[in-house]
Parts: sequence; structure tokens; C-alpha cells
Amino acid sequence: MTMREQLELLERRVAESEQGGGERRLEAQHAKGKLSARERLDLLLDDGTFVEFDRFVVHRSSDFGLEDEKYYGDGVVTGYGRIDGRLVYVFSQDFTVFGGSLSESFAEKICKVMDLAMRNGAPVIGLNDSGGARIQEGVVSLGGYANIFLRNTLASGVIPQISAILGPCAGGAVYSPAITDFIYMARGTSYMFVTGPNVVKTVTHEEVTMEQLGGADTHASTSGVAHFVYESEVATISAIRELFRYIPQNNVDDPPRGRGTDPRDRRDEALLDVVPDNANKPYDMHDVIRRVIDDGEFYEVQREYAQNIICGFAHLGGYSVGVVANQPAVLAGVLDISASLKAARFIRFCDAFNIPIVTFEDVPGFLPGTAQEYGGIIKHGAKLLYAYCEATVPKLTVITRKAYGGAYDVMSSKHIRGDYNVAWPTAEIAVMGPKGAVEILFRKEINESGDPTAATDAKVAEYTAKFANPYVAASRGYVDDIIDPRDTRPRLIDALETLRTKRDRNPPKKHGNLPL
Ligand code: HXC
Repeated sequence: MTMREQLELLERRVAESEQGGGERRLEAQHAKGKLSARERLDLLLDDGTFVEFDRFVVHRSSDFGLEDEKYYGDGVVTGYGRIDGRLVYVFSQDFTVFGGSLSESFAEKICKVMDLAMRNGAPVIGLNDSGGARIQEGVVSLGGYANIFLRNTLASGVIPQISAILGPCAGGAVYSPAITDFIYMARGTSYMFVTGPNVVKTVTHEEVTMEQLGGADTHASTSGVAHFVYESEVATISAIRELFRYIPQNNVDDPPRGRGTDPRDRRDEALLDVVPDNANKPYDMHDVIRRVIDDGEFYEVQREYAQNIICGFAHLGGYSVGVVANQPAVLAGVLDISASLKAARFIRFCDAFNIPIVTFEDVPGFLPGTAQEYGGIIKHGAKLLYAYCEATVPKLTVITRKAYGGAYDVMSSKHIRGDYNVAWPTAEIAVMGPKGAVEILFRKEINESGDPTAATDAKVAEYTAKFANPYVAASRGYVDDIIDPRDTRPRLIDALETLRTKRDRNPPKKHGNLPL
């Protein structure tokens, strides 16, 4: 054949490789409200930047008639491209080929891009739409999964790993995403479960729908497995692009600077009135966050899960930061198991990827009760403590109101290497709230007095004046300053500047023993 004839052959094969499992299956995919693997990559990556690998790979299986059914690419589209000009490695599973199920060659293709991502220090984004292990390949497929899990684990904390779930992901298809840093789901079309509704019915006799068992809302609000949920695939993929405004390429790179124009010295009058005069009244900590960060743009993580703590990315004076904040509007901002897990994982991501942590604190303590104790609040709360203690990125803390008990220590206190800790004048930093303290300390005195209510009030007033304020902590240097709330933004930005050259290290070790 001549070169021209060879080229024609190549073009025909390339065209064939782009057809996935064929027209009929593609129509079925669209009919379910889902995009094809390639359409998704087009949305994810900057125009014209996708470079494909391994488009001619086919499976090597000959069981169950598979030798007669081969598709170029074997059900996953892999390669690299750019997001805002930045290199990312990608794989996009093609449900139209054997239901996106994972074969030996399919796994090899994913491993190849993961290895390149590690070598070149670039994030990996996986678009998942898969029926799990390719049943016809048996244990070979399981081996393929394990090869991916190992790479996910070794890459953890070295390069960001992002997973979008854009179809049914069952069995092995959920464990790779679970090891990655963030899971995105699209409402109505994505599902994650270890075993599907039929198996559940057989084993536990529970009747449950796909949606209830592993739909986007279930994982966003009940299990906490998903970090982000959007109404459509388009919105989901566009949100992944947005995430790249905050995260770096790898663990030795700095996160990108924000492009906002919010003045660094902007004071905010409204911050004077956010905290109610009555210390038992709730307020929405989002108001504080939005007024302090650049342009009020907050990229919130796990918004529907453990709403008593708020986690998310923002820019502050152009610097990317991770915000962790107690939320007095939900359960009074108490720390419980879910809140501890949510914030601990977020803090560890920020620490791994050089993103300073800004903490807004208003916390009455840990949630009491048998449900929490039996559920292991001790070990789960310890994860949050561990994460804050271990973090060596710049840590800034603003105590807006309550900082009580163990929660005071946990929430990035000075004692656990907080770099810049300030309090608003409304702060109450003590072992416990005035009423609880008085009831323990003066029970006898109050009961023996003629008027217990008046006696309690008097003691509460005495305790409040003495302990429920920021001055005792400030007198010890446990907070660096007590600031005018209106100055919060400029003060934090100024502190962040000083911390740009921060050097801190944990002792050399194989790894710590996080209380799992
Ligand atoms: C091979 C598969 C497949 C699989 C689906 N297909 N799953 N082929 N291996 N695991 C094929 C179907 O035969 C069909 O082929 C096409 O993909 C579309 O599947 P449908 O069933 O028609 O689609 P839908 O009705 O949308 O249902 C999707 C589904 C269902 C929910 C994913 O297919 C399903 O339950 N699949 C099996 C899931 C599963 O049990 N996987 C193994 C998990 S165990 P045609 O030719 O008709 O297009 C596992 C172990 C790993 O993963 C553990 C590691 C820790």
C-alpha cells in the first residue's frame, strides 16, 4: 500500500475507534440523559487539547464469544488535555462498550495515564460509567482493578485525583473513586454501590431502589461518599473545571492565584452585626465566610452532609485557602462524628496540597449521647484533632463566639500549631458555657439558696464576666489578638502574606497512625 492508502486506512480505523459500542447503544445512552465518553471529555477539557492514547487497544479475552466482539479502545477513552491551560490526565469510561465494564486491557489503559500523571506531576480525572468487573474476564478483571487501586493509593497526596460518577458504578467501580480526593455525582443518572438492589434484597430482604441505595442525594447527604452533586452532567463537569481554580498540580506546586479584584484592605461593616447579642441564638456562618473571602466566591465541599461544619475553597487576597467553619445555624455548630470526618478529610487534602487553612470557630463542644459514643465519636473526633495537629500549612483561626472545651483545642488552637489565632470581642473561650459550668460548680449553693433562679443568674453573670470572654485566653497569648470584626479580611490577608515562607515539618516517619 502507498502512504496515502495507509493514511486512509488509519483514518478509517480512527473513525471506527470513535464509535464506541455503535449507534444503537449510543442512542440508548443519550436516551437515558447521559453523554458519551467523548462528549464528556469535550466538555471537561479546553477546546482541541485532548490527546488520546491507546485508541487501538482491544481486549484479549476469548471466553463467552468475546473473541468475535472487539471494539477499538475497549470501553475507555484515555489521554491528556488541558483545563485553563493546565495539564491533566483523563480517562472516560464508555458505557456503550460492554457497559463500561473493566477488562485487563481497559485497566492497563487507565494505569498508563495514572503512571504518566505521577511522573509528570499532573492531576488525574476519571469519568466513571461502569458496570464493574467485566464478568467474562473473571479474575483477570479483578487483578486490573487492584492495579488501579494500588496506583490510586500511591498517588494519594502526590497529585490530586478527581472522580466523576456519571452512570451506574457497582462493585469494583466504586473503590477507585473512593480512594480519590473528590467524588462528583450527577443527580438522576449516577449511582454508586458495592452491591445493587437485587443483591441487597437477597441478602438482607430490604426493598430499596437504585436511587435510594446509591443515588446522588443519598451519597451527598446520608453517606457522605459524594463531595459534590449537580443537576446534570454538564453542570457536574463544569464544576470540576471550577475546582482547578483552587488546587495545585501536585504536592510540590503552589495552588493557583485567584483572579478576583476584591480589595485586600476591604473592611466589612456588616460583620459587626452577624453575631447576635444573645449567645444562644444561631446565625449563618456562611455570612461571615462570604464577607471575608474574595468576591464572596465560595466553593463548598459536601454542602449537604454534616451541615454543622462548613468546608470549602476560596481565595483570600488572591491566595487559595481551605475554609473550615463551625455552623451555629445547624445543631448549634456542635462537633459530631460526621462533622469530624468531613472536616478531617478536607484538612488533610489542604495540607497535602499546600493550601492554607482558615478556621472560623463557634463551637459549643462535642455532641453528647449514646448514639455518638457507641458510634465512636472518640476515635472519629480524634481524626479531626489529628488532622489539625498534623497539618503544617499556614493555619489561621478566627473565634467569632464560642470556643468551648475539647473543641477549643481541636479547632486549630494555638497549642496545636495555629499560626495566627484571633478572637472577636464576642468570643467565649472556656471549658464550658456559663449555665453548665454554674450548675456543676455551684449546685449545692444554688439549691440551698432561697431563690435558685436568682442565685443561678447571679452566678452565671459572675462566670460570664470572668471566663466567657476572650481576655483570659488573650492574657495567656492563646489568641494573638482580639480584633474588630470589620478588620477580619485585611488582618487575615496580612497574616497569610507573612506565612508565605512558613517552614514547618513533622518528624520523619513511615507514616502516622491516624485513629481510623
Ligand atoms: C460485562 C456488562 C457488565 C459487566 C453490563 N454489561 N455490566 N458486560 N461485564 N459487569 C453489558 C451488558 O451485558 C449490556 O451489553 C451492556 O453492558 C449494558 O448493560 P445493561 O444491563 O443493558 O444496562 P442497564 O440496564 O443500564 O444496567 C446497567 C447495570 C447492569 C446496572 C450496570 O448492567 C448491571 O447490574 N451489571 C452488572 C453489575 C455487576 O454486578 N458487576 C460486577 C460487580 S463485581 P449489551 O451487549 O446488551 O450492550 C466487581 C468486582 C470487583 O466489580 C471488586 C474489586 C474490589
